[in-house]
Amino acid sequence: MTDKTGWWRSAAIYQVYIRSFADGNGDGVGDLAGVRARLDHLAGLGIDAIWFTPWYPSPMDDGGYDVADFRDIEPLFGTLAEAEELIAEAHTRNIRVIIDIVPNHCSDEHRWFQAALEAGPGSPERQRFWFRPGRGPDGSEPPNNWKSRFGGPAWTRVPDGEWYLHLYSSRQPDFNWDNPEIRTEFEDVLRFWFDRGVDGFRIDVADGLVKDPRLPDVDDGDETPFSDMEGLHEIYRSWRKIADSYGGERVLVGEMWLPDMARAARYLRRDELHSAFNFDFLVCPWDGERFRDVISRTLRAHDEVGAPAAWVLSNHDVTRHVTRYGRAGDTGFSFANRLHSAPVDLAVGTRRARAAALLTLALPGGLYVYQGEELGLWEVLDIPDELRQDPVFARTRGTDPGRDGCRVPIPWSGSAPPFGFGSGGAWLPQPASWSEYTAEAEAADPASMLSLYRTGLRLRRELPAAELEWLSLGEGVLAFRRGFTFALNFSAAPVPLPPGEIVLASGPVSTDLPTDTAVWLQS
Ligand code: NOJ
Repeated sequence: MTDKTGWWRSAAIYQVYIRSFADGNGDGVGDLAGVRARLDHLAGLGIDAIWFTPWYPSPMDDGGYDVADFRDIEPLFGTLAEAEELIAEAHTRNIRVIIDIVPNHCSDEHRWFQAALEAGPGSPERQRFWFRPGRGPDGSEPPNNWKSRFGGPAWTRVPDGEWYLHLYSSRQPDFNWDNPEIRTEFEDVLRFWFDRGVDGFRIDVADGLVKDPRLPDVDDGDETPFSDMEGLHEIYRSWRKIADSYGGERVLVGEMWLPDMARAARYLRRDELHSAFNFDFLVCPWDGERFRDVISRTLRAHDEVGAPAAWVLSNHDVTRHVTRYGRAGDTGFSFANRLHSAPVDLAVGTRRARAAALLTLALPGGLYVYQGEELGLWEVLDIPDELRQDPVFARTRGTDPGRDGCRVPIPWSGSAPPFGFGSGGAWLPQPASWSEYTAEAEAADPASMLSLYRTGLRLRRELPAAELEWLSLGEGVLAFRRGFTFALNFSAAPVPLPPGEIVLASGPVSTDLPTDTAVWLQS
């Protein structure tokens, strides 16, 4: 493996949601054998690293984010030995491996939570979690008014009358990070996987580990006592020391949905995390001014702490961006308004997604590609209710359709479901029209989304990468120079092409740059 200094500063990282990537053993669920068989697709795409969503043993209440054992592999996915082989095989292809770590909570089937239930109130076992008596004369009301991010109260009562905190589903009890045992345990888990060759961790709910121990009630929308608490920095400083004690530049990437980018950048100081997903970019509606604002703010905030930006358009938690950008009204994304009923124009969404890909690939810093984004897949909106698996659907009583629509198994080949996903069907139904969106079909088509990503990822390494300077090319046109010229026309009418030789375009261009089209030019 090449050991280029600061590889993570400009890395293209591909997110594999294992359950839906490729099924090697024919049980309808993706697994490590499936990933190993498809490593060539990833090598051919030209990415630098893979991020695997949780692969640990799990009852799968939240797609594996409910971890029952942090030191093993979910049997549906494979074995620890296979994971080690997969890491080694990725490395021989110059692909690094980042895995998810889920330190905010575990599964209710984790042995520590089971021990806490058994040991009863006041026990040291309960101190690893947030157990509290209830309120009201008979303790039948939750200890405070916090809401689960999946809907409903953030507390569940156990038979002896105490309640435990869970910011997500009731099967995901929150750890008490004030307890030194939790800190030691996770430091050990980091070492366990670093010893097995992983190149880094994506830290789930990185902003949420530390809680205000008084557990105060919150006003509507106020997340202060359980997000972005000062005590987190000390945890990440200790994690950074562990990462730095290994060779080969092991990295820590934070998942933080924080409202204030300057606050988020504090986690990226030199002795803390290496990078964090830029969710402001992901949620940005299709509007040139808004994108320019997000990009400028991002670069400024990251420059101040010497960290690279990490651009992201989609992941396994949000509506796929082909669908978001194809919506008539609000083309942005927020968890509060998951707009599954709004009309979608997939042709418009796809044109914009192509332009957005070239924008993302042109920006300074690193970027993430969510599996299927390189095929131009859209959100599957018509999954029958009885097949939906995301706990969000049940916990909101169906008001929020949940995240299954962006987790539908990937189409690889052939003309009918499961499109080469595996020999045993697919755990969520795939649209019949995905026959034209298989990796096989798109590899043969120079005009496909896959070809655009492949070319873009390759050229991105070769283009000069100077500091970004904004260009003014008229209203609705986002343009900059950084050794090469980038322009994206967000306006409703074509605009003249800027000077230079076209290196890559997201759609047909003549002497004009059409609406929702992006180009890279070199002079
Ligand atoms: C963020 C993960 O990306 C999401 O899928 C999960 O449900 C929550 N964290 C809770 O772990």
